[in-house]
Amino acid sequence: MIEKIINGYEKVFGAFKGNIYFAPGRINLIGEHTDYNGGHVFPCALSMGTYLAAEKRNDSILRFYSENFPESGVIEVYLKHLINEKKDDWANYPKGIIKLMQEGNYEINRGLNLYYYGNIPNGAGLSSSASIEMVTGVMLNDLFNLHIDIIEVIKLAQRSENQFIGVNCGIMDQFAIGMGKKNNAILLDTNKLTYEYASLYLKNYSLIITNTNKRRGLADSKYNERRSECDKALSILKQYADISALGDLTIDLFNELSRHIADDTMRKRAKHAVYENNRTIEAKKALDDGNLDYFGKLMNESHISLRDDYEVTGKELDTLVSLAWKTQGVLGSRMTGAGFGGCTISIVENDYVEDFQKNIETEYEKYIDYKPTFYVVEIGDGARKLY
Ligand code: GLA
Repeated sequence: MIEKIINGYEKVFGAFKGNIYFAPGRINLIGEHTDYNGGHVFPCALSMGTYLAAEKRNDSILRFYSENFPESGVIEVYLKHLINEKKDDWANYPKGIIKLMQEGNYEINRGLNLYYYGNIPNGAGLSSSASIEMVTGVMLNDLFNLHIDIIEVIKLAQRSENQFIGVNCGIMDQFAIGMGKKNNAILLDTNKLTYEYASLYLKNYSLIITNTNKRRGLADSKYNERRSECDKALSILKQYADISALGDLTIDLFNELSRHIADDTMRKRAKHAVYENNRTIEAKKALDDGNLDYFGKLMNESHISLRDDYEVTGKELDTLVSLAWKTQGVLGSRMTGAGFGGCTISIVENDYVEDFQKNIETEYEKYIDYKPTFYVVEIGDGARKLY
């Protein structure tokens, strides 16, 4: 891979004397739409991700090129002129984190040639954008000797997504990408930022990602809408309980207080946040106990809640999940990521993986008109310098 990246770089920018970095994508096992509600998430880093070949220039020009978007050519901007511009398309992600680092008074005093290549499917809810942000952050930290703690890089990347890109995401994606560990999932308390690794030993089962291949479309505005619905519900409940986030509520306390939320939709959103947080904590315990049946059941409940209470699934995700539920050898299946398209994750017994793919491909195409794509999950390490 390193050779491929260097060759690509040299075709665009000439002889390469720089360094190569990598940041993974991520998959969330359970704990969806809980990270901006102060709840728990349970993601892991993938072995697929974004590679970046970077070299300093002698001026103050940033030159971005992505092998994934050759039609955009080399995108050129001045270090001192970093604003979100539609014409710069994908390059707004790295621009954002560079800008946030500048605002944090980290000195980035030279231009750069930056060559990106990613093997995460775009717009599939596997965090290709957070992966670009994090690979850029890790590169800047190293090339400019900034000595920023990785947790701070994670926070800067999240802030860049919030402020520069305009998506009010939580911290899960950047955290999983920055802190990922091979063959482990991370149980993260997004309120306290405390975390625990959990070894992902699945006996004779595999985790399978199925991509709906539906583009996400209006996802960003819907995402921000869900977030503000939860914020409103929280501000009501705060009048009755000493809490700082929906994640602070137990199921019992929520059920006692929920009648104060007059709006049905708002109550359903809050209910999802509280129950999903609880399921996530339970899922980590189930995994520690080797109780995969219960883990699968929690995944199914998570999907139902995201479908009925949070309303972020849609026809394609629901079709994939209900087909998976009917398929032999499947312990659990749910949508993963923001929703509205993107991917599902399923736990499938190894002997049935092939049948799972065949059956679901045929049946999905009958309902949706195009095919899904399958990936067997390989859990890798977090963002790092490769060379
Ligand atoms: C997106 C966001 C995350 C998280 C998930 C939903 O991936 O970037 O912060 O909110 O959606 O769980």
